[in-house]
Amino acid sequence: MESEGETPRSSEGTGRILPPRESDWPGFFISFEGVDGAGKSTQVAALAGALRSDGHEVLTVREPGETAVGELIRSLLLRPVPAPLDPWAEALLFVSARAQLLAETVLPALMRGNVVIADRYVDSTLAYQGGGRGLDRRSLRALHRAACGDVWPDLTLLLDLPPPAAESRRRAGQLPLDRMELSPEAFHAAVHRTFRELAEAEPERIVVVDAERPAVVVSQRIWAVAAERLAEVGGLAPTVRPSA
Ligand code: TYD
Repeated sequence: MESEGETPRSSEGTGRILPPRESDWPGFFISFEGVDGAGKSTQVAALAGALRSDGHEVLTVREPGETAVGELIRSLLLRPVPAPLDPWAEALLFVSARAQLLAETVLPALMRGNVVIADRYVDSTLAYQGGGRGLDRRSLRALHRAACGDVWPDLTLLLDLPPPAAESRRRAGQLPLDRMELSPEAFHAAVHRTFRELAEAEPERIVVVDAERPAVVVSQRIWAVAAERLAEVGGLAPTVRPSA
């Protein structure tokens, strides 16, 4: 396991006027993570629907993309390119799309007291560009601090699916595989391993959910975790969480 040796939540020296910690916003920030094929989009939709039925204002976003600039970056990142993309060029593009998404969409929604559900966030960069491409994870965290104000989710749900199961789900999909999905099996295995390491290092924030079970069972588990976490921060707060 790569030792990262730095606290992930330090907010000093970012030079950004952003809420540096999750407790500084009245909303609630949830991210979904996992290898390609883990079923995140189904589960994001299910959780968003359940939270809306419970009276929450919910914003869902998926990375990379959502903003006008982010969608342009997405197409650069996911379509096949004529020459291999340099790993740092790739990392910077993902982080660039994230900085724009935070500034334009995510932080304003959190400050309004919304629940924001992100289909992928910074742990994807640590797992794919760190674990998969071999970039130094401390440097990636430093980049997150500098570019994204060190904004971390209140809760991260890691949909855990062993590489062989993920591989068969990807192959069974209807859409052509994108540039990242076409990476070799060893890459996906490293990504999976790194997600597990990240969860072990931060068990409070990252909850591992067994994604091999039927989707409805996975949804029930996710709902139980999310409802418990929301209750811990003052119950369901459609607008503004009461201050303690
Ligand atoms: P997408 O089609 O959104 O995949 P998925 O539905 O599996 O989330 O494509 C996003 C791809 O980009 C996916 O392979 C993961 C990868 N990725 C990174 O490599 N680094 C990142 O920081 C992010 C956000 C995504």
